[in-house]
Amino acid sequence: MKQKEKEMEKLKKECLDFCYKHPLYQKGTYPVFGEGPLDAKIMLIGEAPGYHESIKGRPFCGAAGKILDELLDFVGIKRKDVYITNLVKLRPFNNRDPKPEEIKSFAPYLSKQIEIIKPKIICTLGNYSTTFIFQKYGLEDKLQGISKIHGKIFEVENLFQKIKIIPFYHPAVATYNPNMKEILKRDFKVLEKFKKEIIKS
Ligand code: URA
Repeated sequence: MKQKEKEMEKLKKECLDFCYKHPLYQKGTYPVFGEGPLDAKIMLIGEAPGYHESIKGRPFCGAAGKILDELLDFVGIKRKDVYITNLVKLRPFNNRDPKPEEIKSFAPYLSKQIEIIKPKIICTLGNYSTTFIFQKYGLEDKLQGISKIHGKIFEVENLFQKIKIIPFYHPAVATYNPNMKEILKRDFKVLEKFKKEIIKS
C-alpha cells in the first residue's frame, strides 16, 4: 500500500473511532469521512452530512449531491477525479447548523485530510467551510459573507505549496431557490481554466 493510502486509512480509522463516541453520533447512521482519489488536485469541502449521506456514509449523495454532480458535469469535471469531504463528519440533529465546538472537534481530521491530499485547489461549499478554510490559511482579512466572495479565487502560499481557495455557495441553496443554480453554474465556470491541472492524466 502506498504511503498516502496508509496515512489516509489510519486517519479514517481514528476519525471513525472518534465519531462513534461523539455526542452527534446517532445509532443507525454512519459517519461521512470523505471520498475520492488521494492524488486529487481539487478538494471540495461541504458543511456536514445530511440525512441521505448519514444513511449511506457517503458525502453529497442526496439532493445537494445531485446539484453538485450537475455543476461538475457542467464544467466537464468528473466526480471521480475530485476528493469530496465535509467540515463536520456527522449529521447535526435535524440538519441544524453545526456548533462552533462541533466544528472545532472535527477540524483536525479535515486538516489532516488536506495535508495528505495536498490539493492545488480547495473549493469551499457554503459559509461554514469557507470560514474555517479562510481562518486556517490566514485569509481572515478577506473573509466576508459567501454572497460577497463566491466564485472568487484566493491564493495562499506556504513553504511547500501554493493553494487556490475558491468559495462557492452551498449547492443545497439551489434545491430551495432554483435561480441560485445559474449563479452556481456561473461560479463553477471558474474551474474550467484549471481543468488541465485538475483532471488526472
Ligand atoms: N451537505 C453537505 O454539506 N455535505 C454533504 O455531504 C451533503 C449535504
